[in-house]
Amino acid sequence: MIKPNPLIDGTGFKIGTFASNADGGLSLATVPERWQARWDDCLTAARIADRAGLDFLLPIARWRGFGGEIRAREWSFETFTWAAALAAVTKRIGVLMTVHVPVLHPLYVAKALATVDHVAHGRAGLNIVCGWNPEEFAMFGIALDADGYAMAEEWLDVIERLYTASGPIDHHGRFYTLNGAVSRPASVQAPRPPVINAAFSARGRQFALSRCDRLFTVYIDAADLARQVREAETVAAAGRSVGLFTTAHVVCRGSAAEAEDYYRRVTVEQIDEIAVDNHMRDKARHTSADEYQRYRQRFAGGAGTAPLVGTPAQIADQLIAIAATGCRGIALSFVNYAYELPHFCDRVLPLLERAGLRP
Ligand SMILES: Cc1cc2nc3c(=O)[nH]c(=O)nc-3n(C[C@H](O)[C@H](O)[C@H](O)COP(=O)(O)O)c2cc1C
Repeated sequence: MIKPNPLIDGTGFKIGTFASNADGGLSLATVPERWQARWDDCLTAARIADRAGLDFLLPIARWRGFGGEIRAREWSFETFTWAAALAAVTKRIGVLMTVHVPVLHPLYVAKALATVDHVAHGRAGLNIVCGWNPEEFAMFGIALDADGYAMAEEWLDVIERLYTASGPIDHHGRFYTLNGAVSRPASVQAPRPPVINAAFSARGRQFALSRCDRLFTVYIDAADLARQVREAETVAAAGRSVGLFTTAHVVCRGSAAEAEDYYRRVTVEQIDEIAVDNHMRDKARHTSADEYQRYRQRFAGGAGTAPLVGTPAQIADQLIAIAATGCRGIALSFVNYAYELPHFCDRVLPLLERAGLRP
């Protein structure tokens, strides 16, 4: 009997880590303790998160970095192989992979995802990304497809059919042709492991809300998040409940002043300005000129995600406010996951349990 995947088991407000497979995590700070994402670092962070009862590990799929002095995110581990290795050494936590749809054939993904799900005894999950960075896709000789989400729909159809078919399947679609295709074993989780997506475009959100199990988003403030929760509920197909999750970067310290000081250091004073410019240029199509200025600190701190800065009690209060919007989970990044997760888990999680947010 396999245990339900903690990412989607319906208990409490879900907390996971984001981007620990990549250099810097989501941060563009140049401080000496910046995250290096060496394999042993990944292992340490995953073990801390697993033992503390966090719910998921979400890696970032990155093929090129943001240049600058630190070449942030150029070093990142491929997410299927990363997840397979972590699945073997963790016990409870959900282990996700992140895939750019056009880069991997669905027959390959069906087999790779099922493999990780078997290693994890049913704790695997998949983050489906259609892509936004033309330079990254150019590395594969692929153009960004305006209809990327149509491709994702067909891609997911193929994977779902491969898992549920009793024999070989033929598929003659717009994007893929498969003749007599089989993929055994199917995943442990039936009919497939949970899939998530983090679209912002209307077309992308339609895909996420009709085909995925969780939609991830970023938010400006609690009111913005509450609006997005309501919108997602309205758009979701009748009878489908797709929980909205979000993401944030954390600086949690013993005193508010200490947290604020460190936050300023890692988002203003000691940052790779060129990498921040490059990252924001890549994101410019999602961001107005006004927002660009307002969000520079958010890009330096966490790729445009919201900051959670303060004492354990202050961070817990912010997480309680996020959960009160109807948002059902959050993926967190840290300047250094291995140094900072123990403090976060020891000091913030008990407050959330006391508040009834987590079992
Ligand atoms: C939590 C989260 C995780 C994401 N992970 C990745 C990733 O690993 N690789 C990537 O290229 N894009 C990633 N994205 C970007 C989204 O998948 C999406 O492409 C982007 O938000 C633009 O939305 P659109 O595709 O609807 O235009 C992520 C976004 C969020 C909020």
